[in-house]
Parts: sequence; structure tokens; C-alpha cells
Amino acid sequence: MSNIAIEVNDLYKIYRIGTNKVRALNGVSFKIEKGEFCCIVGTSGSGKSTLLNMMAGLEPPTKGSIVIGGEHIERKNESALVLFRQAHVGFVFQSYNLLPNMTALENVAMPLTFRGMDKTIRLAKARKMLKLVGLQKYENHRPGQMSGGQQQRVGIARALVVDPDIIFADEPTGNLDSATTMEVLKLIQSIVHEKGQTVVMVTHDNNLAAYGDKIIRISDGKIIAIEDNRANAAMNAAMGIEVGGTLAPPEAATVPDTGVQGYAPPQGMDTAGYAAPQDADTTGYAQEYVQDYTKETGNEV
Ligand SMILES: Nc1ncnc2c1ncn2[C@@H]1O[C@H](COP(=O)(O)OP(=O)(O)OP(=O)(O)O)[C@@H](O)[C@H]1O
Ligand SMILES: [Mg+2]
Repeated sequence: MSNIAIEVNDLYKIYRIGTNKVRALNGVSFKIEKGEFCCIVGTSGSGKSTLLNMMAGLEPPTKGSIVIGGEHIERKNESALVLFRQAHVGFVFQSYNLLPNMTALENVAMPLTFRGMDKTIRLAKARKMLKLVGLQKYENHRPGQMSGGQQQRVGIARALVVDPDIIFADEPTGNLDSATTMEVLKLIQSIVHEKGQTVVMVTHDNNLAAYGDKIIRISDGKIIAIEDNRANAAMNAAMGIEVGGTLAPPEAATVPDTGVQGYAPPQGMDTAGYAAPQDADTTGYAQEYVQDYTKETGNEV
């Protein structure tokens, strides 16, 4: 069996705005191994989110291929992509995207509603995940009754509850202070290494990228370096140096004001089939989950 989780080949994304062409991705190729914690790092506008969205099948590339588990993502139609994401992918968002009227436990159990799973089993699994992220005492708290770090831990539990092969995270600590950021990163790192899942995390912060096994540096839609960070990490550990120890202070203005609470897709992005919000109350998380949940429980979300 191949050890490669994701293979990206000569990927291009060109946006045309009027007569202007933006090369958001300009010929990108790399491989991510199974079980790897891969960080994609670059400045604002370098193409990180575009790349992540393409790997998750949320946007089609202009040219090139993305192969995940032997399947070409760019060749799938929308309904096949929805199934692919449900079966293989977990998302962690910068703005958590929890459903505000649901408890932590209900939020975590939400993605399981698709699996035709009995409610008792769903809640039991969700409970286990909340425990894993250290929030067993917060089961019945709603997002508004939790801190940012706690909410993001709920977000991580929700991403992990379906036992995905791959977790995509776009600036997952963008709204957290530096101490909580480290906590959340270590949590992602340890859980994923334990379970052998693959994580692709996008960040603009070099200190955070240092948590990755592999660092892919991107600039102006091109890869400028791919670094195997495991050797560094081993050396740092041997010398007692903690990576990410000097985190930049949180940036207050990292959340784009889209008018929609939750995940902010790139402007003009076609969000069809994506967990994008149809209304602000569902905060950007899988609309389909919400409909399913409402149908099943009779609860309004
Ligand atoms: N839907 C779109 N239409 C036109 N241009 C776009 C679209 N989405 C992204 N772009 C452009 O593509 C480039 C890469 O954008 P992208 O969102 O991938 O950057 P990023 O690295 O994620 O930045 P940030 O750190 O600010 O989130 C930018 O120049 C951006 O303006
Ligand atoms: Mg981005």
C-alpha cells in the first residue's frame, strides 16, 4: 500500500477578474505522507487557502491534479465530492464554526448524523472525543459559554469524531492567544500522531509551522521550499528546546469581515457543496448536517 496520503501535481488556479488574471496557484507539486502533520506556510495572499480548498475538493483547479487515496479529486463531480468529504475529511476552521444553539456534545455528534448511526452511539462517540480534548465537563455548554480555546477544542473533536483520514485546518489558531494556540497545536499534533491521521494545516506564522513534520513554504502561488522538520524536531527535543516557544501575539484583525459568522471563503469562491452557511445562524458549518439534524431531532438549529 502506498504511503502517500495526498499527491498534488502541477496545480494551477488562475482567477480572472475582468481583464486581470490572478495566479493564485502557479504550478504547485508535492506529496504528503500518511500520518504526516504538514504545515503550509506563507504570507497573506500567497495561495494557502486556495491550495487547501482545492485539496478538499471545494474548488476545481484550473490545471493539474490532486490524488488522494488513489482517487483524482479534480475529476469528481459535486455529489461525489460531498461523499468523499463525508467519508475521509475533517475540517477545523479559524472561527470554530460551531452551531451556537447546540451544546458542545451535540456539535461534536453532528457529523455522525450522516452515517445512519443510532443516536445513543453518536452521543457516546462524541462524549469520547470531548474527553479526548479535555472537555468532558463542558458537554452541555453552548459555544457562547466557552472560551475561544475551548470552542476550538470542540471544533477539533468534531473534526475527529468521524475518524477522518485527513484533517484540513485553515489557520485553526488564528483567533487564539499564544498560550492557547500552543495548547491547541499540541493537541492536534498528539492526537493525530496517536491515530496516524494526516493533517494539513495552513498558517502564516512560522513559529506555528514549526510544529509540523513537514513544512511547505508558499509564496505568490509557488512553492519556495519543502522542509522535513522531523530531524529538527528530534534535535530540538534532544536539546530540550521547545518549538513555537516564542509565538507572535494574536492578531486582532485576522478574521475577514464577510458578514457571515464563521468560515470566510475567499471572495467570490463558489461554495457549492461546501459546508458554507446559507444563513448566518449556522455559522458556516455543514449546512447538510444542520438539515439532517433538524429533520431527525425536530430541534431548530
Ligand atoms: N475567488 C477568488 N477570486 C479572485 N481572486 C481570488 C479568489 N480567491 C483568492 N483569490 C486571490 O488568490 C490569491 C491567493 O488567495 P488565498 O486566499 O489563497 O491566500 P492566502 O494565502 O490564504 O491568504 P490569507 O493568509 O490572507 O488567508 C490572492 O491574491 C487572492 O486575492
Ligand atoms: Mg487564507
